[in-house]
Amino acid sequence: MNLDRLNGDESPEKEKQKALDLLIREQERGQFGITDKYIRDEINAFTFAGHDTIASALTFTVFLLAANPDEQEKLHLELDEVFGNDRDRNVDTSDLSRLKYLECCFKESLRLYPSAPFLMRKIDKDFQLDEEITLPTGLQQDREIAWDNKLP
Ligand code: HEM
Repeated sequence: MNLDRLNGDESPEKEKQKALDLLIREQERGQFGITDKYIRDEINAFTFAGHDTIASALTFTVFLLAANPDEQEKLHLELDEVFGNDRDRNVDTSDLSRLKYLECCFKESLRLYPSAPFLMRKIDKDFQLDEEITLPTGLQQDREIAWDNKLP
């Protein structure tokens, strides 16, 4: 199966604008005060946030499929249904909507082993939660996604 061009059905003219090109174009237009540092930070965020999360999600999905052969068999049947014996054709976006069981596998894997297991926030000004409670400036809040996902 060739995954090189997931959007292989798109012609070059219709190709979407690349994030970096878009940022540089807006910088050249002088809008929004975009600095070189801002562009570097954005690209770093996308590269890191995009790479690490997907690598971890794929690793845990493959691990869970290896540990659950019955589920692996169901997924195999779905792949056979969508791709038949053609292992060389490009995957295109219309395939994705047919790969329902694959989506369920990813979602279950992300539920058990979320790539971003917690979120952190720091309050930058006092926040009135209700009549009695004010959360003070500087308070840090930690939301445990990995824990929440395992609650009944
Ligand atoms: C399984 C895949 C992914 C998961 C589970 C995931 C999860 C998350 C979560 C939970 C956040 C919020 C973090 C927070 O608010 O503290 C986040 C933010 C972000 N993600 Fe992902 N992500 C995934 C894939 C990607 C990919 C592929 C990209 C880019 C190519 C990406 C780019 C970003 C960026 C740029 C932010 C920050 C957005 C902002 O500025 O608020 N993520 N992601």
